[in-house]
Amino acid sequence: MANPELAIIPQHVAIIMDGNGRWANKRGLPRTIGHTKGVEAVRETVKAAGDAGVRYLTLFAFSSENWTRPEAEVHDLLGLLRRFIRRDLAELHRENIRIRVIGERENLRGDILPLLLEAEDTTRHNTGLTLVIAFNYGARNEIARAFAKLARDIESGALKASDIDVDSISRSLDTAGIPDPDLIIRTSGEERLSNFLLWQAAYSELVFLPDYWPDFDRNLFFEALKIFASRDRRFGGLSNKTAAVGG
Ligand code: FPP
Repeated sequence: MANPELAIIPQHVAIIMDGNGRWANKRGLPRTIGHTKGVEAVRETVKAAGDAGVRYLTLFAFSSENWTRPEAEVHDLLGLLRRFIRRDLAELHRENIRIRVIGERENLRGDILPLLLEAEDTTRHNTGLTLVIAFNYGARNEIARAFAKLARDIESGALKASDIDVDSISRSLDTAGIPDPDLIIRTSGEERLSNFLLWQAAYSELVFLPDYWPDFDRNLFFEALKIFASRDRRFGGLSNKTAAVGG
């Protein structure tokens, strides 16, 4: 990469896209306009991630807690996601992007899940960026479902209790086969994970940006990559710098 500040490109970037409502409020606009602008930021981010050479981009599109929002807002958010898949799928496919969906699939009504599954199916052989859409996603729910699956495997005799370890748990999560996020970005100035990828975030670098999600763009994405490149990741061991001088 030409820019030495971006010498270390994260393999997996995950984003909590926060602040659509506040972006709209600040302008005296309805919240739904904030979400609509948010989809434009999604499009720009997908392009920027592909251009940067990121392999996996996970977007927190709809949490399992978002159902408690007013019905009209839930309706708007689902409508935007539906339109994004319908309008952008052909282009995403042309761009060799693979779509994966994580989140609870049981008891979902309507056409959203079939649409997301169609997007997964259409793009399953693509080899470029993997766009992971977290829909009806909550990390505790994901971990609970993984444990229930492991327990069923033990009951059926397919697994022994002694087989349960970090790898078998990772393989039972919705993110099976996807490397843990190297970088998690949250916009809007909030500094928490809000039930997002709790297991997978064990060693993620966290970058909190003050900007609201509709203002997120290519420049801010590259800004976050720069912050990531400046961090010293130790994974519980010694810093490379420290190890190099034998300290
Ligand atoms: C947070 O803003 C954002 C969301 C709850 C949803 C994000 C969804 C989109 C950007 C659109 C659909 C997604 C895709 C992948 C096409 P907020 O409403 O919590 O903002 P606030 O905290 O300021 O109220």
